[in-house]
Amino acid sequence: MASAASKLNVGAGRVDREKHVFVVCTGQHCLKAGSGELLSDLKHECRHTSAEVRVGASGCLGHCQLAPAIMEDGRMMGVVSRRRLQLELSRLGLSSERRNLNRH
Ligand code: FES
Repeated sequence: MASAASKLNVGAGRVDREKHVFVVCTGQHCLKAGSGELLSDLKHECRHTSAEVRVGASGCLGHCQLAPAIMEDGRMMGVVSRRRLQLELSRLGLSSERRNLNRH
């Protein structure tokens, strides 16, 4: 777990933004299971965040039984629905619909 101090690059005279990396599998199984929509949702949701977010696509991540699969900051997420992705983005403070999710 990163401490608050580790997120701050005080010695260099600047404060680093929080960083996240998402890699969406666009292999055959994951595409059939909807990873294309997940990739679009991620790109859309992360457009206006103040955090540094990188969203990319990859060939098969080797977890086809968990399609659609996404790697989030090095952690495998499997059987990801659009709703689950929204909740995860909300948890990370990256979703533009965060307020809407909190109402339900
Ligand atoms: S096709 Fe996505 S993990 Fe294999």
